[in-house]
Amino acid sequence: MDRYEQVTELARRRGFMWPSFELYGGAAGFYDYGPLGARLKRRIEDIWRRFFVIGEGFAEIECPTIGIEEVFRASGHLSGFSDPLTECKECKEIYRADHLIKHIVEVPDALSAEEIYRVMKENDITCPECGGELSEVYEFNLMFRTAIGPGNRHPGYLRPETAQGMFINFQRLLRYYRDSLPFGAVQIGRSYRNEISPRQGVIRLREFSQAEAEVFIDPRNRRHPRFSEVKDIRLRLYSREAQERGQVEEMTVGEAVERGIIAHEILAYFVARTYEYLVAVGVDRERLRFRQHKADEMAHYAADCWDAEVLLDRLGWIEIVGIADRTDYDLRSHMALSKANLSVFVHYPEPVRRKRVAVKPDMKALGPRFKGRAKAIAEALQAMDLSDLKDDTIKVTVDGETYEIERSLVSVEEIEEEIRGEEVVPHVIEPSFGIDRILYTVLEHSYHEEPVEGETRVVLRFLPGISPVDVAVLPLMDKEELVEPARRLFDAFRRCGMLAEFDTSGSIGRRYRRNDEIGTPYCITVDYQTLEDGTVTVRDRDTMQQIRIREDRAVGVIRDLLSGALCFSEAGAPVKA
Ligand code: ATP
Ligand code: GLY
Repeated sequence: MDRYEQVTELARRRGFMWPSFELYGGAAGFYDYGPLGARLKRRIEDIWRRFFVIGEGFAEIECPTIGIEEVFRASGHLSGFSDPLTECKECKEIYRADHLIKHIVEVPDALSAEEIYRVMKENDITCPECGGELSEVYEFNLMFRTAIGPGNRHPGYLRPETAQGMFINFQRLLRYYRDSLPFGAVQIGRSYRNEISPRQGVIRLREFSQAEAEVFIDPRNRRHPRFSEVKDIRLRLYSREAQERGQVEEMTVGEAVERGIIAHEILAYFVARTYEYLVAVGVDRERLRFRQHKADEMAHYAADCWDAEVLLDRLGWIEIVGIADRTDYDLRSHMALSKANLSVFVHYPEPVRRKRVAVKPDMKALGPRFKGRAKAIAEALQAMDLSDLKDDTIKVTVDGETYEIERSLVSVEEIEEEIRGEEVVPHVIEPSFGIDRILYTVLEHSYHEEPVEGETRVVLRFLPGISPVDVAVLPLMDKEELVEPARRLFDAFRRCGMLAEFDTSGSIGRRYRRNDEIGTPYCITVDYQTLEDGTVTVRDRDTMQQIRIREDRAVGVIRDLLSGALCFSEAGAPVKA
């Protein structure tokens, strides 16, 4: 069994997660989170909120998961969000054509369907299942299509990313942020992609959870006011150039910006915050790197993108977060299709005085001559360039009709005006987190096996605050005189808002093993000494060390151990950390 199998087997057996619809034989690309998995996921999401909603002050919104066609026409997903497919002419199996040439071409994403087919032909690629001939490569759109209301008049699409909700609500969000940049908005929710062959558990799902932040910035200012907080963080970076050399580089965030490896402070700031968040939920920093997309690998909307990639035992380096510079692509596309103004008036620090040449039409003459059209004609004249005013007769077109105006009816003057600011279409920096991939990584990176007394102890070393159970309360034996005080203690934990479990089944050793396997950081055992002196044992999951503390101090001690205010001492007592 490799680590992937060990982790998925444990996850299924202990109630973290399993493939959906098992009762009816299952369907690839869908997973259910069980009691422990759903809790673990919620905790991973809550820490994300702590970082991005509270820490960065980005407002959380919630939009429908079904979108109307206009949204995805503007976003480019209707025309551009597809994978290249090929089908075996013999066994009819369908494959991602780019995956079949991964070992030949380094970035197959960058090739067109025709180019991929050519590479397949040149290299005699046949069906991996039966060796049959493969069809020409065609594009398959990954969005799930549905119909809104009866009939087929209003197509709808399950969103392939949560991001569009932030873009189409831009005007309202701007008002919420009192018309000034920068600001951010986030969504945590389900996204849907009709992936071709989702065979890697929760790494590739057809319905998955994203946590995305869209940060709207003034493109003329790419400095971040809090950059100094992150500039000394050391990261493993795999830039485009480093990939050419095949060598990951380690450097501080400050150095990465200084050397132009990460393009600007804002992008680097979010790469750094992503690193901090991933480490805070339990991703192993030694198996984490940031890889820059190659120019031809980027999504249709991105100008630059850094992926947080983690090393997984079976799957190798896998993207779990994408941090993209989406420029003004989305806002401009929605502006063009909806005709709404999605720009922001950005005030200059000081008004600027500027001289310009103004064209002044003679309204006394134009008014009586053109009546209702005079104003529009005058505006068209004012918008003209001086070079168009050289001839004795000026031709001006309004609403498709051309008028001839004598040059003598137009004067030119130099005027001075005060300019207070300008209209700017914001650019967007987007950290996009795949919660399911993060959750799997946390499971795999927390998984440890160690020999104990001739057996293999399996332990999930979750960080405190991540484990789905904070504390397990265990009466040494299933006897009323021990169960009753243990229940009282269990209730005390719950009253304090802690996720406690109560377990009387099986030997105490088995119960410790079970809690090790689900990553419970502390087990409290009520035994016969408890009845004599009011003390209980606290067992530390990672060291298996046990200490005795007073029963009435148990809630406070566990809370302090979980928060890191206390730790276990060699001498067997909790001490200040
Ligand atoms: P991949 O190349 O692996 O398909 P992607 O580049 O399409 O991923 P993005 O479009 O950048 O992924 O999506 C942002 C994040 O959403 C990813 O980093 C990933 O964590 C998550 N994600 C994307 N597709 C899936 C999926 N099918 N199942 C689970 N998570 C996903
Ligand atoms: N919002 C980035 C993505 O899902 O592709």
